[in-house]
Amino acid sequence: MNGREQFATKLGFILAAVGSAVGLGNIWRFSYVAGESGGGAFLLIYIACIFLIGLPVLLAEFTIGRRGQTDAVAAFTSKAPKTLWPLGGILGVLSSFLILSFYGVIAGWVLYFFYSYLTGAAASVPEGGFESFFTDFVGSTAGPIFWQFLFMAVVIGIVYFGVKKGIELSNRIFMPLLAVILIVLAVYSLTLDGAAEGLAFLFSPDWAAFSDPGVYVSAIGQAFFTLSLGMAAMITYSSYLPKTTRLPSAAGNVVLLDTLFAIIAGIVIFPAVYTFAVEPDAGPGLIFIILPEVFNMLGSGGMFFAILFFFLVAVAALSSAISLLEVSVAFAMRKFSWSRKQAALTVGTLVTLLGVPSALSQGGPLGDFLIAGQPFLDFVDMVTDEYTLALGGLIIALFVGWGWKQEEALNEAGLSGSPIGSIWIWFLRIVAPLGIALVILANIFS
Ligand code: PHE
Ligand code: NA
Repeated sequence: MNGREQFATKLGFILAAVGSAVGLGNIWRFSYVAGESGGGAFLLIYIACIFLIGLPVLLAEFTIGRRGQTDAVAAFTSKAPKTLWPLGGILGVLSSFLILSFYGVIAGWVLYFFYSYLTGAAASVPEGGFESFFTDFVGSTAGPIFWQFLFMAVVIGIVYFGVKKGIELSNRIFMPLLAVILIVLAVYSLTLDGAAEGLAFLFSPDWAAFSDPGVYVSAIGQAFFTLSLGMAAMITYSSYLPKTTRLPSAAGNVVLLDTLFAIIAGIVIFPAVYTFAVEPDAGPGLIFIILPEVFNMLGSGGMFFAILFFFLVAVAALSSAISLLEVSVAFAMRKFSWSRKQAALTVGTLVTLLGVPSALSQGGPLGDFLIAGQPFLDFVDMVTDEYTLALGGLIIALFVGWGWKQEEALNEAGLSGSPIGSIWIWFLRIVAPLGIALVILANIFS
């Protein structure tokens, strides 16, 4: 195995993969995108995308990664040299780079709220006051950058010291804790005045929305983002796997857990949205305006919850961010023959700097600088989730579905001779590519 690192146990790998999947995407992004896309119809289409496209593509990434035992670009090259397939890997490196740039910014917001509860500053905000508490913060210059840099410094530090030590341990403890906190909060949210309205928003679809291509585009983008798909993060992780791990059950676990986290987060958020009369389409700030209202309503116990919650979300974001950085670092290590330390520092610094315009775009100094009508952060988020990730996922599906010999793909995935195997292949060949292509086209023409 030419001396590459490996995961010690199967559990270690599942924890790392779940750690990559569960992050800001489930809580921050799921809520704001569901809110902007009208709730129920979005949720249904999103779940369809997760199971019809996300799950098969995730298994394809696991299969590619473990077969290649190398970084994303080389995983394509070694299997198919002198073809266009390695474009999939290159696109992945590009996506990971762009996504991490703004991911660090949002994680910085989380740290700021954690800190504001630690010092008590957030506890004394009057009811209804978090809208301006939040806008004041993101509208400043030094604040968002400071917290973004702090978060990125931790990410770079962990990648600098290697893959196994950093990731496995923290996920084992903190992921379950985050689940518990979210469930407790969800139960509390169900007692709020706006509960019925919030649940109706999230779970009863407005049928007219099904004819809006924009909802499909958001749903597929969110499905890729939340499962860490289409950019070789999962290829990179599974390249550290021993040949004995059962990939299909690992993929199923990741998808189920990730989806549960998102739905429970939705049950926390939307009842509160209707209780505190905030617009569900408030945008990327949604959870930062809403959740603190809930915590403050809970009195002094709420302070404890708030501190714990923001801490755990920051930890979840950390393991996702590590997997994002790991994609470009693994690539740079092989491509430029850099050491892990050198790659982590160089790539990490570049990504952090690229995040600065995003940090300043939410009402700060770059607030009026719009690209395609959107602030910088929203633009990078949209381009990656709706275009580069989707395109990456398309290439991955086609690569395994059509580019590999069927028997070889089935063997590597551990599905040869199983009916599930042939269903999987046909999803990779037809269903997923067609779905993704239609959505990309709808997006371009609308
Ligand atoms: N899936 C992560 C989340 O939901 C984000 C992510 C995207 C991580 C792509 C790695 C790759 O927060
Ligand atoms: Na996720």
